Amino acid sequence: MGCGRKIGPYDCCSIICGDCLELMRAIPDGCIDAVITDPPYGIGRDGSKASTGSHGGRKGYVFAGLDSERPGAAVFCEILRIAEKVIIWGGNYFADMLPATQKWLVWDKGQRIDQSDGELAWTSFSGALRILTLNRCALRLDVTEHPTQKPVKLLRWCIEQAKCSGVILDPFIGSGTTLVAARRMGLHFLGFEINEAYCQIARERIALVEAQANLFERTKQLRQECLNYQGEDKEGALRGELDALVELEMLKEGEK
Ligand SMILES: C[S@@+](CC[C@H](N)C(=O)[O-])C[C@H]1O[C@@H](n2cnc3c(N)ncnc32)[C@H](O)[C@@H]1O
Ligand SMILES: [Zn+2]
Repeated sequence: MGCGRKIGPYDCCSIICGDCLELMRAIPDGCIDAVITDPPYGIGRDGSKASTGSHGGRKGYVFAGLDSERPGAAVFCEILRIAEKVIIWGGNYFADMLPATQKWLVWDKGQRIDQSDGELAWTSFSGALRILTLNRCALRLDVTEHPTQKPVKLLRWCIEQAKCSGVILDPFIGSGTTLVAARRMGLHFLGFEINEAYCQIARERIALVEAQANLFERTKQLRQECLNYQGEDKEGALRGELDALVELEMLKEGEK
């Protein structure tokens, strides 16, 4: 994994297992475009019982203590040192360690049930508060791998709000949702996570995004090759393209 570029001592577009405070200390000022992250809130919400029901049920998670402690002030100092653009989910849990801000982001979870109606993100931006209404069921589209996973669509929205164009760092990646959103938008990323099992899950999610992007590029290329074909046997060229699509499993034999 990695795009060949470097961010301080780290490979750009990679995931590193370790304590983010120590890892961030090695990053020079100003080489990160934005930090977009979702730290542990310190409220013990890293586990849940599985449930069944007409809505399709919910996956269960063993309480592993990942959310028993919130990060200390030194973590937020490091985040604000290395990036000007910052979005921190659960900002209401860390308000005593962050400066006052004008712009909060709100994720309205679209349902009024016994769980929270939404979540708040602290940002380093000026401007009006913004709300995204996105039903918590959006997570079903992503396949959940982490007890406090966020939807990819929510993180895409964050990246748009931050107007990112460079490297995005998430020091608390969990299952890697911020990185998946960044990669899908063609941006560079760096991710830290203390739990090796989650690093592995995040690497697999990124590998899947890469595979999808490669498939898309190859299909585009095949189509272009066919359109540009100058020979007489246009029908043969088209057949060749269709065969290749079947090989890539983008088309079934009978659909040619
Ligand atoms: C709220 S979860 C992030 C979930 C993520 N947004 C997702 O969609 O999967 C926070 C993550 O921070 C990790 N973590 C806790 N302390 C850490 C530390 N000191 N350094 C790096 N990661 C840490 C936990 O293991 C947990 O996976
Ligand atoms: Zn990169």
